[in-house]
Amino acid sequence: MPLLSLDPAAPTAYRTAIERGADELSAGRLVAFPTETVYGLGADATNGQALAGIFERKGRPRLNPLIVHVPDKAAAQRIVLFNPAAEALADRFWPGGLTLVLPRAGDCPVHDLASAGLPTLAVRVPSHTGAHDLLRATGRPVAAPSANRSGEPSPTRASHVADSLGSDDLLILDGGPCQDGLESTVVGFEDGRAVLLRAGAVARQDIEAVVGPLGQASDAHDRPSSPGRLLRHYAPAARLRLEAQAPEAGELYLAFGPVPQGAEALQLSADRDVREAAANLFALLREADKRGAVRLAVAPIPHDGLGEAINDRLARAAAAQG
Ligand code: TXA
Ligand code: MG
Repeated sequence: MPLLSLDPAAPTAYRTAIERGADELSAGRLVAFPTETVYGLGADATNGQALAGIFERKGRPRLNPLIVHVPDKAAAQRIVLFNPAAEALADRFWPGGLTLVLPRAGDCPVHDLASAGLPTLAVRVPSHTGAHDLLRATGRPVAAPSANRSGEPSPTRASHVADSLGSDDLLILDGGPCQDGLESTVVGFEDGRAVLLRAGAVARQDIEAVVGPLGQASDAHDRPSSPGRLLRHYAPAARLRLEAQAPEAGELYLAFGPVPQGAEALQLSADRDVREAAANLFALLREADKRGAVRLAVAPIPHDGLGEAINDRLARAAAAQG
């Protein structure tokens, strides 16, 4: 697949690139696109399998929550609930390099996998014209981490994306070099007070000029040096037993493929497709809790490819239970 130029000075080619990008996203495929911060690897945020494709393509060892991109504040208000401080920050810094982490709205269509099962969602309105027009044309929220393989620096040019992820089967929209070259600043809220979750394109003092001193996050983000304090994920109430070939009496079975005769089971993927399993994981953990399961036996899931991220997520959920 080509790199398509997103140069507003060539309007016909520009329109073609935007329409092509929107078509790919709507069909559940990934599209790399420019933003003012870094290039993003986008997927339809309402499509679990498309989101799983992001983790697969990046070779991400973890199912971390992603930033969901929308064209304007009104679109953000349809997926998350704002508080007064968030309103003030959005009015001052959107469109731009600020991401707000807010509670999901009641009828939020964004798939669980975008937020790693968390009740909150990270949202951002990019200022880059190409990104904006792509989001408008797509008409649904687009989840996008930086468009590089996990562990590599974030790409700030289309060629970086092609070098890192390849372009044979990936549409890359080339909007030239990114203006900021640094990921967005991520701000969350604790008791209505803004806390800095990730330093980035918008400086702390500029944020503090709007909402006053930023609080200290009680959960550390992006700090591998303190693994015990990494971002809290959704952990089921049901006790997890991993690598279970079959459920024991009183256990609900989280199957990956065949279901043992007579077992009460939820199915991650009947076809043993890890992408489908990733897309179903968080919803099924919630479903297990909804059913009041006390113990959950999880079938062995292959450890390669996206399976590594699924197993990491399960292992951390089990470890959190002590
Ligand atoms: O500049 C950027 O932000 C780029 C461009 C493409 O927009 N995107 C980006 O996404 O850097 P990503 O996935 O690499 O970073 C997501 C950040 C992480 O620090 C993650 O922990 C935080 O956002 N995050 C996402 N959802 C969250 C949530 N529900 N609660 C707390 N933190 C969240
Ligand atoms: Mg990144």
